[in-house]
Amino acid sequence: MDADGYFDESVAATYDEDSAERFDPAVVEPAVNFLAELAGSGAALESAIGTGRIALPLAERGVSVHGIDMSAAMVERLRAKPGGDGIAVTIGDFATTRVDGSFSLVYLVYNTIGNLTTQEAQVTCFRNAAGHLEPGGTFVIEVGVQELRRLPPGESGHVFHGGEDRWGIDEYDVARQGLISHHFWIQEGRAEHFSMPFRYVWPSELDLMAQLAGMQLRERWTGWTKEAFTSESRSHVSVWAKPSG
Ligand SMILES: C[S@@+](CC[C@H](N)C(=O)[O-])C[C@H]1O[C@@H](n2cnc3c(N)ncnc32)[C@H](O)[C@@H]1O
Repeated sequence: MDADGYFDESVAATYDEDSAERFDPAVVEPAVNFLAELAGSGAALESAIGTGRIALPLAERGVSVHGIDMSAAMVERLRAKPGGDGIAVTIGDFATTRVDGSFSLVYLVYNTIGNLTTQEAQVTCFRNAAGHLEPGGTFVIEVGVQELRRLPPGESGHVFHGGEDRWGIDEYDVARQGLISHHFWIQEGRAEHFSMPFRYVWPSELDLMAQLAGMQLRERWTGWTKEAFTSESRSHVSVWAKPSG
């Protein structure tokens, strides 16, 4: 794996196209509304800014956005977009990288907390977010809730997509909260394969990480349009706040 991690040039080149559903304005706008309200008149820091799916429309709202990402290839895509050169980005690991300034909002979306594959790194990420926040500032995470109830006893694989020319299988290591997402597809008559490791993490564990970093849960919703979070929720958007002073 090179310095760009799993999001190297080959992934970055088709990221927006491959994540087209996530670029749909019906998905992006509620997220940007939610985040703009929390940022208020302060600045926002996006951990894992990628190609700017959320950062660019948030900046268009007048929020000053700074990003961190380890993939120069992804950030190059952001730079090439209108408004992309107006967003400061620091290349580095979002768990540990410090940037200058303080922020009213730090956010980490699209399941990316799971790209940190150890509990220690995830705790470090919370501490780093808290370290960037002004008193009263908030840290927001958007992440899925693992569908472990769909995994029969003794099985470790769950097919999350099956089709004529594309398959996706999640391979679980339940003892370690580990998950490898395998993607298989046919391209020009050849079978291609890409796998990415994650550490899935429960909402209650995230609350404990926030507590270790000196923050408290303020809100938890199923999604950006503030649907109630319930036992059936397959995702959550959580907001932790740093004490006001
Ligand atoms: C699924 S993309 C999300 C990008 C963007 N936030 C979005 O919503 O479209 C994940 C991003 O996280 C970055 N990333 C993964 N692990 C990282 C780490 N430990 N430090 C910094 N960036 C990381 C990848 O380079 C990639 O740009």
